[in-house]
Amino acid sequence: MENIVLIPGDGIGKEITTAVTSILDAAGAEINWIECKAGEMAYKELGNPLPDETVEAMEKYRIALKGPLTTPVGAGFRSINVALRQKFDLYSNIRPAKSLPNIESPFRAVDLVIFRENTQGLYFGKEMWMDEEKTHAESVAVVTRKASEKIITSAFDFAVKYHRKKITLVHKANILKLTTGLFLEIGKEIAQKYPSIEFEDLIVDNMAMQMVMRPERFDVIVTTNLFGDILSDLASGLVGGLGITGAANIGDDAAMFEAVHGSAPDIAGKGLANPTALLFSALLMLEYLDKPRLAEKIRSAVYTVLQDHKDVCTPDVGGNGTTFTYADAICRLLRD
Ligand SMILES: NC(=O)c1ccc[n+]([C@@H]2O[C@H](COP(=O)([O-])OP(=O)(O)OC[C@H]3O[C@@H](n4cnc5c(N)ncnc54)[C@H](O)[C@@H]3O)[C@@H](O)[C@H]2O)c1
Repeated sequence: MENIVLIPGDGIGKEITTAVTSILDAAGAEINWIECKAGEMAYKELGNPLPDETVEAMEKYRIALKGPLTTPVGAGFRSINVALRQKFDLYSNIRPAKSLPNIESPFRAVDLVIFRENTQGLYFGKEMWMDEEKTHAESVAVVTRKASEKIITSAFDFAVKYHRKKITLVHKANILKLTTGLFLEIGKEIAQKYPSIEFEDLIVDNMAMQMVMRPERFDVIVTTNLFGDILSDLASGLVGGLGITGAANIGDDAAMFEAVHGSAPDIAGKGLANPTALLFSALLMLEYLDKPRLAEKIRSAVYTVLQDHKDVCTPDVGGNGTTFTYADAICRLLRD
C-alpha cells in the first residue's frame, strides 16, 4: 500500500478527485489516500489556505495528488500552488500534451512534453508598490544557475530515458538578456553533454506562433516559469483543451501531481468537469512510483472509452455524459 496525500481542492476539485481515485482503485493501484485540505475552502473553513496538517502530511509522505486550488485575483492570499512548489522545491513542472483518439482538433500527431521551471522566474512572487498612491508596481524575476541547471538537466535526462529526439529551449534573451539569457547560456552548456539529443532555442513569441502552425515539430520543450505556464495551456488547446492534460511537479525528494487546469468555477458542481487531466496526472504519479504497466493499463482503458463510448464522455470533448458516467465506463473496463 502506498500512502499518498490527496488534496481535493476547490471548485471542480471534489468531483474530479472522486472520479480519479475510483479509477485508480478499480485498476488495483493499492493506494491509501490521506485526505488533506488546502485552498479557498480551507481558508473559509479553517482561516488558513494551507493548514499545518496538510504541510505536515506532505512532509511525512512526500507524494501528493492535488485538485485545483482557487487563487484570489489581485488582493487576498498568495497562490498555495506556488507556495507548495517552492516549499518542497518541486522544481520540475512536467506537462505532456498528446493527441488523443476521437477528440476534435486541427492536429492529429501532437506529442510534446513541456518542462517548466517551477520555483523562480516572474512567478517568484516578489512584487511591490513603488509609491503610496499605488500607481506604480514592480515585480522581480529570478533566474539562478542552480535552478536552471536542474530543470534543463531533468529535461535532457527525460529525453534520453524516453527515447525523445529533440529539446527546444524557449527564452526571450533578446530583451531579458540577464535572466532568460542566463537560462539560454546554461541550456547550451548542458546540450554539449547530450550529443545524441538535438538542441534548438526559440524566442517565446516565435515559439507561440510555431506551436499553433506546426506543433508536430516539437518534442521536449524546456523553459522558464511564466513562459511554461502560458505555453502549456496553449499546448492543451492543441490537443482538445484543459480537461485532458495532466502534469507533475517533481523535486529531488517530493512530488505533487495535478492537472494543468484551475478550479473551473463556471462548471463546478454540475458534473461537467472532465477528470482526464487529473487522471493523466495520476498516471504520471504511477510512473513515478515505478508502476508503468498499471499506468498503461489505465491509459488504454481511457483510449477505449474515448474511441468506442464517446456518448458517456464529458461535453468538453464532444460527449453527452458527466464526470461520473465517464469514470464509471473506465472503471468497468478495468474491472472486466
Ligand atoms: N494548479 C491550480 O490549482 C490552478 C491552475 C490554474 C488556475 N487555478 C485557479 O483556478 C481558478 C479559475 O481559473 P481560470 O478560470 O482562469 O482557469 P480554469 O482552468 O479553471 O478554467 C478555464 C476554462 O477551462 C474549463 N475547464 C477547466 N478545467 C476543466 C475540466 N477539467 N473539464 C472541463 N472544462 C474545464 C473551465 O470550465 C473554463 O471555461 C483561479 O482561481 C485560478 O487561480 C489553479
